[in-house]
Amino acid sequence: MTDLQTTDLHAADPADSPWWRDAVIYQVYPRSWADGDGDGVGDLPGITSRLGHLAELGVDAIWFSPFFRSPQKDAGYDVSDYRDIDPLFGTLADADALLARAHELGLRIIVDLVPNHSSDQHAWFQEALAAAPGSEARERYMFRDGLGADGSTPPNDWRSVFGGPAWTRITEPDGTPGQWYLHLFDSSQPDFNWQNPVVREEFESVLRFWLDRGVDGFRVDVAHGLIKKEGLPPFPLETEMISQDNTALSPFWDQDGVHEIYRAWRSVLDEYEGDRIMCAEAWVAPAERAARYVRPDEFHQAFNFGYLEAPWRVADLRTVITDSLSANDSVGAPATWVLSNHDVVRHASRLGLPVGQKRPNGISASDPQPDAELGLRRARAASLLMLALPGGAYLYQGEELGLPEHTALDHHYREDPTFHRTSGTEVGRDGCRVPMPWERDAPAYGFSATGASWLPQPPAYGDLAADQQAGVAGSTLELYRAALALRDERGLGLGGLALVGDTTTDSTDADTAEDAVLTLHNTGRGGEHPTLVIANLGTEPVALPEGSALLLASGPLTDDGLVPTDTTIWAAL
Ligand code: NOJ
Repeated sequence: MTDLQTTDLHAADPADSPWWRDAVIYQVYPRSWADGDGDGVGDLPGITSRLGHLAELGVDAIWFSPFFRSPQKDAGYDVSDYRDIDPLFGTLADADALLARAHELGLRIIVDLVPNHSSDQHAWFQEALAAAPGSEARERYMFRDGLGADGSTPPNDWRSVFGGPAWTRITEPDGTPGQWYLHLFDSSQPDFNWQNPVVREEFESVLRFWLDRGVDGFRVDVAHGLIKKEGLPPFPLETEMISQDNTALSPFWDQDGVHEIYRAWRSVLDEYEGDRIMCAEAWVAPAERAARYVRPDEFHQAFNFGYLEAPWRVADLRTVITDSLSANDSVGAPATWVLSNHDVVRHASRLGLPVGQKRPNGISASDPQPDAELGLRRARAASLLMLALPGGAYLYQGEELGLPEHTALDHHYREDPTFHRTSGTEVGRDGCRVPMPWERDAPAYGFSATGASWLPQPPAYGDLAADQQAGVAGSTLELYRAALALRDERGLGLGGLALVGDTTTDSTDADTAEDAVLTLHNTGRGGEHPTLVIANLGTEPVALPEGSALLLASGPLTDDGLVPTDTTIWAAL
């Protein structure tokens, strides 16, 4: 490396760092992974039966989107009982069996905690409806009187993330029009009042309930939303699903008061053995604000949504990698990279849309369609780049198969409240939540023995089924398996990172070498396995530096061994 010009971005972690600092965690969306009882909705026994896929893939842990008791108005992010499993998914005994089998396979389990709001069917909210204004039961949620002589105007102008007003008026027990309650999401998801100590006690008890059952951690939903600014001042702007826009201005996102809640939770987790963790879902910008969530006595991880949002351009990728590492280093936390989840267009489709276009909230048949081939090529390159970065990474189910978004779903299947609350202006998130294809020639591609599937799978999923890719050289599944094995072997997640080349320019003009190719040097765990990472986003193929040996490529090299456009390679030095 002496002849390469480098700029250090991040120093290596100690080789004996705790598991989560470089963990690869796989998100299972329970209703869409594997259906054990044939009703068309995935469930816990179905998941348990297919855990071998994840052990073979080589991930460290699984994050489950919510499987708690819920009317499923927002696919389980509307919890009516935090201490029970929804019958749709199984029973507490099924959860125990899943946990036991996962642990046998060496996989840790992260569950999803939804503390900003409950379902309107939660016992506390039902009590609140039956109680009087100002009662203890109402004080657990955000009830307010309406404005105007008859109270018929909402308490303020806040908008719901899913569209429409963030307030709904109730009918009092005596039948008269009554108070209003706040819901930053759907009207079936009333916000808790986190200024009330009773709410804090309840959630600490919920944490203990799951920690006692043996879970290894929590992904915390809307971690930036629990505290609302005093006086609930006006904020007329639309609040998009899900974006980092406006977080700096908003009176309900990223208020300083949230942090003491997480400090209290951290001390609960620290009482337990085994490095239990919390990961924040906090759509907060800039990186310095997001880093406040991962200070040493708060969360262990926070999703780096800046990376997910970055356009496929060298300058943008370089900036987000540099800024995230520097912000997190300032608090001693690892970065946590992610490209897809159940809320955003899958990256195999997103990266097939014109570069620099605003990320759409779902794609429908009448929208301009992504370029599927280009999208997959870029997605594989983006994933290989991500897996070479120091820190942790989250994978979303199906990305290891290169699954695209379902972009032609009939509207009548749509369940995302966004679609209904925006009268279809935003099609929403169903297209990224379609059930997994396991076997090309089985009913519902092996998702369910009966062939039932709560959302229909697009025909493209047949050839992408896991059984079509396992053992096939060059398949996306084998790329991910090889990448995870190498990442582990070379300790990329704990390595130090440097930018290679002249990084002084900051243009988005892809014609200059600096803006065509992103080259990184990862020292590997303990500096033992230096790895060169080259992501070619330019129009011309590029050569591997002399003396380097190719380890893995996201796509085929040219006949003369060059790295083609939209391809990432790892090479040993
Ligand atoms: C973020 C979750 O990821 C999303 O699916 C959900 O709709 C909202 N939070 C509300 O809980």
